[in-house]
Amino acid sequence: MSADGRGPLVVAHRGASAALPEHTLAAYQLALEQGADGLECDVRLTRDGHLVCVHDRTVDRTSSGSGVVSEMTLRHLSELDFGGNGEPVLTLAELITLVLDFTGPTKLFIETKHPVRYGGLVESKVLAELARFGLSAPASADHSRAVVMSFSATAVWRIRRSAPLLPTVLLGESSRYLGGSAATTVGATAVGPSIKTLREHPELVDRAAASGRATYCWTVDERADVELCRELGVGWIATNHPGRTKEWLAG
Ligand code: G3P
Ligand code: CA
Repeated sequence: MSADGRGPLVVAHRGASAALPEHTLAAYQLALEQGADGLECDVRLTRDGHLVCVHDRTVDRTSSGSGVVSEMTLRHLSELDFGGNGEPVLTLAELITLVLDFTGPTKLFIETKHPVRYGGLVESKVLAELARFGLSAPASADHSRAVVMSFSATAVWRIRRSAPLLPTVLLGESSRYLGGSAATTVGATAVGPSIKTLREHPELVDRAAASGRATYCWTVDERADVELCRELGVGWIATNHPGRTKEWLAG
């Protein structure tokens, strides 16, 4: 619940991605200007071991180039245009810097993609990057400026084992999975159902709360769904429209 008691806190999904190309600095800057409480990003490893903010396995959909991210170097990725305005690929370090330079308590929600294939390398790189910025050992989960999320229970478990104070979200689409023991087993501090799952299984929010967990719901773009999340007591909603969602919640 937001500090003013008006409902869920609003996370900009890939930035203000309905208005500007996803995962670009411009999309994240706009989200901050629109009052987003959090910024969501997906991270992938480049061939030379850098973490970049890209959702898909390839850059074909979101850039001027083509190819598999994990087979490309950061230098190669930096030569591509992400979004049409000449914006280079965004690194996790650049996004963390943006968040820390902003005058506000905005949190960064980092989702690791395909962590199993790299045997924990993505998680250890994410933690190393957070540690470099002093974000890997917050005083408490509430005070943390970073949250790490994954659809992989193994990835969440690795983060909890290495950085026990860092909040984590176990993402999923199955109500049976998220309502079962998986989150407890891996020590996730929140569960992350899709809005479709939550519409069908609103009891997930109370079930998570009963075991001390918050709920993070994605991707919530319709007003009726924002209201549903508010009624259910969802803690965080990820949306492609952070500006209008903040306005709806304030109204
Ligand atoms: O915030 C979680 C959500 O982003 C998961 O789905 O495919 O958009 O990464 P996806
Ligand atoms: Ca994501």
